[in-house]
Amino acid sequence: MPSHVSLPKSGPTITTEDFLKFKEFFYRRTGISFEPTKRYFVDKRLVERIEATGTVNFRGYFTMLRFQASGEELQQLTNLMTVNETYFLREEYQFKCLVDSILPEIVRHRKGSDAIRIWCIPSSSGEEPYSIAMCLLERWNGIREWDVEIISSDIDTGILRRASWLLKYFKKSGDEYQLCNDIREAVEFTRVNLSEPSETLAYRNFDIIFCRNLLIYFDDLSRTTAAETFYEALKPGGFICLGHSESMSRISSLFRVRKFPDAIVYQKGMESR
Ligand SMILES: C[S@@+](CC[C@H](N)C(=O)[O-])C[C@H]1O[C@@H](n2cnc3c(N)ncnc32)[C@H](O)[C@@H]1O
Repeated sequence: MPSHVSLPKSGPTITTEDFLKFKEFFYRRTGISFEPTKRYFVDKRLVERIEATGTVNFRGYFTMLRFQASGEELQQLTNLMTVNETYFLREEYQFKCLVDSILPEIVRHRKGSDAIRIWCIPSSSGEEPYSIAMCLLERWNGIREWDVEIISSDIDTGILRRASWLLKYFKKSGDEYQLCNDIREAVEFTRVNLSEPSETLAYRNFDIIFCRNLLIYFDDLSRTTAAETFYEALKPGGFICLGHSESMSRISSLFRVRKFPDAIVYQKGMESR
């Protein structure tokens, strides 16, 4: 690893020691693990925030980051460090699986009329929860009988603000306006750090969790912690859907693999631990 990284213009320098200190600190706070190959990405953002806050050098900035009571700067920096790539109907086969296999199984076993609860974490700018809501409205007959709640969470407050703007796309006219209202009512956004147990404590009794394209940024330990959180958050028999390159079997034995015609998903046993 180089002892420092050349950034486009002169300014504060981030040494290897600084990078390693920051990497450890950020990992403990967010679960995100930066490999040495991400050095340029990280240094560039640190320099940007050192300059924006007028803290002059890494040392001063790092002190502020750790001890600022409001945590505002850590949030600003986190917003810069996250990768928010997402798009509508991403990995659509899973939505087909949701409509054709998972939901029918859930309602078959349902006693009573409790709403079906879906947790979409991380939601990024909302394309994923809105895709789920659209698929349910357009393709699932059960939507006439069952209430569905989609709680959408992300650590990045900037991207969550963008998520509510997205609703404008649905505000056109006629039927599309109706769709907009239905989606607006179905989806709720919250800021949650999946790696902070005190923040996930209130998230319980979910039937389905979508956690797609986040665990790739975690190391094995944070992945295992996330699996424990999902286990606690799901109802007995609840399902979890991961991104196509992510696998629960490699992380934890808490869930059983369910191979449906359209997708492989993971399920919590009917009996809790
Ligand atoms: C690549 S996006 C995936 C979005 C969506 N699930 C998809 O597959 O299209 C990853 C998201 O994870 C969020 N994230 C990163 N660390 C997180 C954490 N510890 N808790 C909650 N969200 C986190 C980022 O802010 C980012 O929006």
